[in-house]
Amino acid sequence: MIKLITVIGARPQFIKAAAISRAIGLAYSDQIKEKIVHTGQHYDENMSNVFFKEMKIPRPDYNLKVGSSTHGRQTASMIKGLEDILVKEKPDGVLTYGDTNSTLSAAVTASKLHIPVIHVEAGLRSFNKRMPEEINRIVCDHVATLLFTPTEAGYYNLIQEGFKENSEPPYSIDRPKIYHCGDIMYDNSLHFAELARTSSTLIHEDGIDKDNFALVTIHRDNNTDDPKRLSALFDAIYTIAENHEIQMVIPMHPRTAKLLKKNLDAKIYKAISKSDRIKLLPAVSYVDMISLEMNCKMVLTDSGGVQKEAYFYKKPTIIMRSETEWVELVHNGNAIVADADKERIIEAYEVLSNKTDFTHPLFYGDGKAAMFICDEIVKTLSAKDS
Ligand code: UD1
Ligand code: UDP
Repeated sequence: MIKLITVIGARPQFIKAAAISRAIGLAYSDQIKEKIVHTGQHYDENMSNVFFKEMKIPRPDYNLKVGSSTHGRQTASMIKGLEDILVKEKPDGVLTYGDTNSTLSAAVTASKLHIPVIHVEAGLRSFNKRMPEEINRIVCDHVATLLFTPTEAGYYNLIQEGFKENSEPPYSIDRPKIYHCGDIMYDNSLHFAELARTSSTLIHEDGIDKDNFALVTIHRDNNTDDPKRLSALFDAIYTIAENHEIQMVIPMHPRTAKLLKKNLDAKIYKAISKSDRIKLLPAVSYVDMISLEMNCKMVLTDSGGVQKEAYFYKKPTIIMRSETEWVELVHNGNAIVADADKERIIEAYEVLSNKTDFTHPLFYGDGKAAMFICDEIVKTLSAKDS
């Protein structure tokens, strides 16, 4: 039996972990024993618990309850707590996802204890090291033993950074193995689509124009914390809503909710507060979110996960960042990078609204990435024991 410790802490990681925990439960429970450590990076009911309940993720065995802080303090608290757990549990591998501070802490702590790190969603790059996530993912990839990339672009990035395609077992931190396996978020989107159709009632709620809305999410630190960028984004959203007579439904990350009044230009704040075409909501559950994605006309976002989910449900997307890691969406014409630039966002809306020749190749695999990952974990970590 392989003992795996999964380290998660932020909303998208709970969602990603659901896919692997489900695969373990379905087909690998006699080979993998998973224990979950929740770092406590996200802690509000609608940023954490709701996903465990709705997606049937096993309850965490540990919760470090680190809460919010500066990057250094938050990551240090995680490392301190994790070290004690890993020393006690002595797992065969530590599994972590994506690029958050929880990912970084798992990678640093496990690698220094000589425990193999398994990185799911490896290889993605924005080539912008001012993003905290770019640092986190580079560090994690370079101390990992098994690296699972969701896209061809991610696999290519790893090759460019010196990872070898033909690495031979036994794999180790010095002889890592890279795989292109597809995206576990696509697995989830297929698995939960029916539940979203049948159980989510959000779009029927009062005040939501279910036949005529665009979905907006904003949470990147460089957008929320910079008054100029945040104001430009909301100005663009308000202008599109009024000029194109479409509602903007905006489930808000607590970071954005807390900073809206402080950082938004007062005139724009007043305008969006009064407008029926701007519907601000607290962060919503996963099935409510995918119901919004399925029913909207377009997505405007600075989220990584939401960009791809928009594609899974065949919705065009405006990326409100200066670049994206999911470059295939842009190259294929499904998404436009518009930064926090009012005129570019409005122009992108017009281009995507008028475009009719969208295609949707299977960039993100066949919906079975989680099974593939579990299979490789079993093969690799069992081989290490023998
Ligand atoms: C983190 C990740 C980011 C990811 C995002 C997903 C890092 C560096 N960033 O960003 O890559 O896209 O999660 O959502 O790890 N807050 C609450 N309640 C919560 C959680 C956060 O109120 O449950 C507020 C706090 O004011 C906190 C702020 O949100 O200071 C930011 O939270 P934090 O976890 O530091 O970063 P995110 O912006 O969520
Ligand atoms: N999500 C959600 N509720 C929301 C906003 C997002 O369930 O109110 C989900 C979304 O469907 C996707 C994931 O959270 O699966 C994306 O997380 P987020 O945007 O916080 O982070 P990122 O992907 O940018 O790291």
